[in-house]
Amino acid sequence: MTVQTEAPDAGQRRIPPGPPPRRIVGNLPEFASDLLGFFTSCARTYGDVARVQLGSRTGYLLTNPADIEQVLVGQHRNFIKHSFFWRHVRAVFGDGLLTSEGDAWLAQRRMIQPAFHKDRIAGYGAVMVEFADRMTDDWQDGAARSIHRDMMGLTLEIVAKVLFDSDVSEDVAEVERSFEAALVQVASRFRSPIRLPDWVPTPGNLRYAAAVRRLDALVYRIIREHGSRPAGPDLLSMLLAVRGDGGERMPERLVRDQAVTLLLAGHETTALTLSWTWALLSTHPHVEERLARELRDVLGGRAPTVADLPRLRYTEHVVTESMRLYPPAYAIGREAVADCEIGGFHTPAGTTLFMSPWVMHRDARWFDEPDAFRPERWEAGLAERLARFVYMPFGGGPRLCIGNRFAMMEATLILAAIARRFRLRLEPDRMPAPYPTITLRPQGGVRMRVTRTLD
Ligand code: HEM
Repeated sequence: MTVQTEAPDAGQRRIPPGPPPRRIVGNLPEFASDLLGFFTSCARTYGDVARVQLGSRTGYLLTNPADIEQVLVGQHRNFIKHSFFWRHVRAVFGDGLLTSEGDAWLAQRRMIQPAFHKDRIAGYGAVMVEFADRMTDDWQDGAARSIHRDMMGLTLEIVAKVLFDSDVSEDVAEVERSFEAALVQVASRFRSPIRLPDWVPTPGNLRYAAAVRRLDALVYRIIREHGSRPAGPDLLSMLLAVRGDGGERMPERLVRDQAVTLLLAGHETTALTLSWTWALLSTHPHVEERLARELRDVLGGRAPTVADLPRLRYTEHVVTESMRLYPPAYAIGREAVADCEIGGFHTPAGTTLFMSPWVMHRDARWFDEPDAFRPERWEAGLAERLARFVYMPFGGGPRLCIGNRFAMMEATLILAAIARRFRLRLEPDRMPAPYPTITLRPQGGVRMRVTRTLD
């Protein structure tokens, strides 16, 4: 690859170096064929700020934590999410918390935040363990299972129960099928140089619209069923009880947007973390053995509870290390609203800023043997020593993942609940390849044989 040196543009402003773009498509072919490899090689070849040309869209890939902090915190008011991949998922998430902007976003964040308060989520722990135990009670000793599917179903049922007091056990397959269809379509859209509007009846657009319609039908059903029951302390009851200044209810469409957002954002990423973790444990038996030891020592054969978490340190480090190597949100994007400067480079309005946990987490500047799965690296205070925005699986700044504590607690409790009773082995015995859609999915799923180690 030829290194394009920093070149002053016509206005003598510095623009960042980057891989030479081809006509019209720019660097889209490399990006589309191997997104993670392309980002990694751009960062390693061109340094802290690398310019990438994706069709007509100019992006900067940032790998200096100080520059990332500028985008997510220091100058966050100058950046919106309407970038690159978010605009492709608007049909799914609407104007919910993940995709809204400005004052509308802030009002929603304030409204929803109490459901994620430390004390509130501690109360969700018992449901998480109960649901994990109930699922594994049905596991046949020695059976081969689609573990990714199991984890998706489990985390979906949990989030629906704790946030909406709803039972979606009958709907899991439908949600997964619809969401997957939407993800496939989104993934192909952001790799394509041509952007057709949603209303053009291409086969892909039609499949996407049908998937969104199926999700809508389910979520409106949950909302209506819920509305016909007495209000409880759950988040959906609260959303349905909200009244505006004139006493008006929240429009049903907006309740739908919040519900879809929390159902999808609240289960897919945690399920991915667990799936990648099981695969890593299977390929690293010494880690699995140490985990089993901690679970025996701390739990002594009983189910885990929230009160055990402070002593399940290694279990938590396994989750932290798994998200380092396979961050479910492998890239975060923002779009500059007005011209600005990032990392000393002129950044015109409309530029997309990419920040990639995948690239940051596998950088030898911060992690010894960055590709090795070593949960013990987190033992001696590594998290405190790292600069902010080096390890960033949950993003950061005002738009930090609202579910970060929820997710850590859930992944740690589920891992403890299942690993204390079962050993899982990959079939075939190799790590699945990561496939980046909006999230980092294991290509072809995660097929594993489960062996009961404790009744
Ligand atoms: C391992 C699990 C999870 C990971 C890796 C993850 C990752 C992220 C990241 C990186 C963002 C920021 C995106 C950006 O700045 O562009 C985010 C935002 C968000 N996440 Fe999570 N998440 C996880 C679990 C959850 C859970 C369990 C919930 C809800 C129950 C949730 C709900 C949300 C919502 C609503 C936002 C938008 C927040 C806002 O913009 O105010 N996430 N998540």
